[in-house]
Amino acid sequence: MVSNDRDFLLKIAQNVRKNAHTPYSHFPVGASLLTADGHIYTGCNVENAAYSVTCCAERIAIFKAVSEGQTHFNQMAVVADTKRPISPCGACRQVMAEFFTKNTTIYLGNLNYEILAVTMADLLPSAFKSDDLSI
Ligand code: THU
Repeated sequence: MVSNDRDFLLKIAQNVRKNAHTPYSHFPVGASLLTADGHIYTGCNVENAAYSVTCCAERIAIFKAVSEGQTHFNQMAVVADTKRPISPCGACRQVMAEFFTKNTTIYLGNLNYEILAVTMADLLPSAFKSDDLSI
C-alpha cells in the first residue's frame, strides 16, 4: 500500500517500466505523470531499429497526456535501474519545460528506492520557452 502521491507515482512508473520496448539498449525506463485534475498518464521508452526515432518514457507520458487534452501537470515520477536516481535526457527536459512550471516536482528514482525530488527549474534552469519567441 502506498501512502502518498510520490510513492504512488513511483510505483506506477516502476510497473509501466515493464512494458518498455528496449531490444537495443536493454535499459527500460518508466514514467508517470499526475495532471492538475487528478488523472495519471504513463510512459515507457519505445526503441526502434532506426535508433534515433526512439522515444523516452518521459516524453511518451507527456505526449499521451497532451494528446488527450491535458496540459496542466502537478508531478512526474521516473524510474530506471540506475546507480543514482535516473537523470532525464536533455530532450525530455526541454519537453517537460514546455508544459511544467518552474515549481513542478519531478521524482527521480531507481530500483533501490533511492529518490531525488527536483523541480523543473532544477532540471533545466533558464529553459528556452515560448516567451523567447515573441520578439
Ligand atoms: N531513456 C528514457 O526513456 N528516459 C531517460 O530518462 C533516459 C533514457 C531511454 C532512451 C533509450 O531507450 C534508453 O533509455 C537508453 O538511453
